[in-house]
Amino acid sequence: MPPFDNIRLATLEDLPRIATVAAAGFFWSPTFQFQRPHHASFPEDTLSSYWRCYLSELQDPAAAVLVAEDVGEQDERSHVYDALRHSPMYDTLQDGRARVVVGVCSIDLKPESWRMGQFSRSSSGRGADHQAHVDPPGHHVLYNTLDRDFSDEAYAVYNQMTGPAKKKYLAGKMKLTTLAVHPAYWRRGHATNLVSWCVRLADMDGVSVAVSAAPMGARVAVKAGFEEQEVVRIKRSTKENAAAHLADHDIGDVELWIAIRRPLQAPSGGSSTSNSPRRRSL
Ligand SMILES: CC(C)(COP(=O)(O)OP(=O)(O)OC[C@H]1O[C@@H](n2cnc3c(N)ncnc32)[C@H](O)[C@@H]1OP(=O)(O)O)[C@@H](O)C(=O)NCCC(=O)NCCS
Repeated sequence: MPPFDNIRLATLEDLPRIATVAAAGFFWSPTFQFQRPHHASFPEDTLSSYWRCYLSELQDPAAAVLVAEDVGEQDERSHVYDALRHSPMYDTLQDGRARVVVGVCSIDLKPESWRMGQFSRSSSGRGADHQAHVDPPGHHVLYNTLDRDFSDEAYAVYNQMTGPAKKKYLAGKMKLTTLAVHPAYWRRGHATNLVSWCVRLADMDGVSVAVSAAPMGARVAVKAGFEEQEVVRIKRSTKENAAAHLADHDIGDVELWIAIRRPLQAPSGGSSTSNSPRRRSL
């Protein structure tokens, strides 16, 4: 594996903090605003849904979740949106920990990659063979599966609009599926560290990595050598979107940057063959 530099593989114990970091970071992505128009009313639903997403990634043999750590800022809550700041589910600097998770990213391995199962985690940190069912800890009584922040109509439009480009460019490749850093820790190189670990892994295996990124993520991806293939734009003011009541929401247009980074060198070991697309990106 590539060396870890202020980053590490995530564990199930990280989930409350990962959910907090994801909500705090993704809030700034137009995709979040588009798909979760009711986030201000239901912050616990947002946190719970990220918790579930990353739980499923952590337990998926075809995925890897990485976290970046930094010294916690006491005032970090002042950098997040109001509803999240006041949520009792916000996972703050507990237990006097000096270092906390401040960034998260996930990758999907290329279908049938020889690394399948190498990164999946149980609570003991062991591999996929030792997975256990994990319930949210008791004090997170507000954990739910209601998704009231979410708009099914917006999600359907989003998938319809982005599906063809994702199928064309992402299918069969290793994918950088999510990337978010808590805003209190932006511009410190955390996203760069996370992405560079992923592309080094891809280089070791001699495989391409694909991404469908929001504009802020695209800036980081360009620096890591990703090359633009297509830009998908979703305008909320179109007739179809108006019919789905999306124009009623206080959201902007969405831009999704589809890009690929080709490997810098031949594989250094193992093998990975291409196959059919596996599942959706976040
Ligand atoms: C995109 C994001 C992950 C970057 O995290 P980060 O840790 O601040 O990124 P880095 O410090 O590694 O910055 C890498 C480079 O990206 C560019 N960049 C990052 N944030 C930027 C900003 N706000 N304005 C301009 N450039 C920016 C810069 O080129 C920067 O390099 P530099 O600081 O040497 O100039 C973070 O801003 C975020 O979580 N955004 C919201 C969620 C999102 O959009 N995620 C992407 C979904 S694909």
